[in-house]
Amino acid sequence: MRLVITGVPGTGKTSVAEILSERTGYPLITTGDVVKDKYVDTRKLRLKTIWKTKDMGDVIIEGHLFCEVKLPADLVIVLRTHPEELKRRLEARGYPEKKIRENVLAEILDYCIVKAEQKYDDVWQVDTTGRTPLETAERILSALERGVDIYDRVDWSHVLEDWLRKGYI
Ligand SMILES: Nc1ncnc2c1ncn2[C@@H]1O[C@H](COP(=O)(O)OP(=O)(O)O)[C@@H](O)[C@H]1O
Ligand SMILES: [Mg+2]
Repeated sequence: MRLVITGVPGTGKTSVAEILSERTGYPLITTGDVVKDKYVDTRKLRLKTIWKTKDMGDVIIEGHLFCEVKLPADLVIVLRTHPEELKRRLEARGYPEKKIRENVLAEILDYCIVKAEQKYDDVWQVDTTGRTPLETAERILSALERGVDIYDRVDWSHVLEDWLRKGYI
C-alpha cells in the first residue's frame, strides 16, 4: 500500500507516520529525504518523490506539501487539529509568531483537506485533537484492518469568528 500522510505543520504527521511505519514495516519517506532545499518547487518535489519511491511496493510518504502535489497513492490521510491545540503545539516547538499564524489560519480554512480532495480520490480526514500520536496511529491501523474509512467531522469556523473578533487574525 502507498500511503500519504499530510496536514498542516504541527498536526502530528511525523509522529504518527513513524509509529505507522514501525507497526507495518513499511518504509517511511519524508519531504527531507527527497529534497534538501527549504523553499521547494512543488513540481520538483513531486517528480523527485515519484522517482525515489518508484520501486517501493509498500511505502508511507509524509509531508505537508503532499496535499498540493499528486502522487501515485492508494490512500491519503489528512491530519487535523483544533486551532487552539495546534497553536499550543507550534508554540511549544518554538515557531515564530508569524509562522504560527500562517499555519493556524491554513488549518482553520481547511487548506490541506480541500487541496487533497481536489487531487486524490481516497482521502481520510483524521482529527488528532485530544489524542496522542499513538492513539491516532492505532485508530488508523484499526480502521485499515477492519476495512472501514475514517472521515472525522471538522469545523473550525467558530474559531475564525472568535479570532477575527479578538484581532488575532
Ligand atoms: N496528538 C498529539 N498530542 C500532543 N502533541 C502532539 C501530538 N502530535 C504531535 N504532537 C507534538 O507536536 C509537535 C509536532 O508534531 P509532528 O509529529 O512533528 O508534526 P508534523 O510532522 O505534522 O509537523 C511535536 O512536538 C509533537 O510531539
Ligand atoms: Mg513533520
